[in-house]
Amino acid sequence: EKGGWDSFMDKEIHEDPAAVQRTLLGRFDTNGDITLDEVRIDEHDFKSIDKIIVVACGTASYAGQVAKYAIEHWVRIPVEIELAHEFRYRDPILTPRTLVVAISQSGETMDTLMALRHAREQGSKVLAICNTQGASIPRESDAVLYTHAGPEVAVASTKAFVAQITAAYLLGLYLAQVKGAMFRDEIHQMLDSLKDMPRKIQWVLDTQPKTIQAAAERMVNANSFLFLGRHVGYPVALEGALKLKEIAYTFTEGFAAGELKHGPIALVDEGEPVVFIVPPQRGRNVLHAKVISGIEEVKARGAYIIAVAEQGDPDVERYADVVFWRPACPTLMSPLVDVVPLQLFAMDMAKLKGYDVDKPRNLAKSVTVE
Ligand code: M6R
Repeated sequence: EKGGWDSFMDKEIHEDPAAVQRTLLGRFDTNGDITLDEVRIDEHDFKSIDKIIVVACGTASYAGQVAKYAIEHWVRIPVEIELAHEFRYRDPILTPRTLVVAISQSGETMDTLMALRHAREQGSKVLAICNTQGASIPRESDAVLYTHAGPEVAVASTKAFVAQITAAYLLGLYLAQVKGAMFRDEIHQMLDSLKDMPRKIQWVLDTQPKTIQAAAERMVNANSFLFLGRHVGYPVALEGALKLKEIAYTFTEGFAAGELKHGPIALVDEGEPVVFIVPPQRGRNVLHAKVISGIEEVKARGAYIIAVAEQGDPDVERYADVVFWRPACPTLMSPLVDVVPLQLFAMDMAKLKGYDVDKPRNLAKSVTVE
């Protein structure tokens, strides 16, 4: 069942492109407009939504955090991300115009299930983004947008993450469509970029593994790692840090790169590995320059720099010790590619240390207790 791979994690990372592709399948009408057929919230209710709250845990919450940047930009309504276990206990402000989006691979995470029950009791509509047909979370929601990543067996979530981002982006573009928040052409342009992402992810899987393996061999004895990113690169940094701690048992911390000078830079010492998610060079140039200056700062303190960056980025070539390259793509699409080398890196590190990458210690695939 591992299809020739030596672990489920290996197999599932290699299914990242298919997970995105399958999640996009069958969601468009003959005009290329988005249709969400498993959604039982009528268009009128969708039109009236004035706030989104994402409730999720772990990797699913980072997918939500990525989607926040896109949906706020596209739909111009506030999107809050809340860890499901915090949400219920703080008396959140919920109205019938709030859409609560519960993201869960398994659909059985108790914290997320309790959060959605609380939201529905307060009169809000809940839409589930879920990878498991008929699980508790989709069963109890007003609407479901399934991620068609296929069954995910390894405890560390990989292909579900890229599928969750894809589904949340579809939701965002659908809302932009029904609310008239974007021009049709703009929506179609975004959809075209999204449809192009499986090919770009495949490029990473085809060309980057040797570099990633060599980096893992070099860093296998490192005691700790910092992961830094800005904008959509920030949740990608958090996800990269989570993968490495979950399966390689390495102490990691993810930060927003802008926060460096407000504290974390104190941790940087000679040889400390620091992973930077560098935004595309075009488009959001301001961010690119800011991340590069963060790299310069830590480099000056002797850090070992690993960068995830756009192919041929000259600034990155100048400063980074190792680079995992990404093909050029729009900033909002970059998380779909950037997480892939980090998934591979964590897996390689864990294998080098002799750990079971599919069943890390102390963790369960689905956390069915609060
Ligand atoms: O099944 P869910 O998506 O609801 O699970 C949420 C988290 O428990 C899950 O993402 C966890 O963080 C994974 N072990 C991450 O690899």
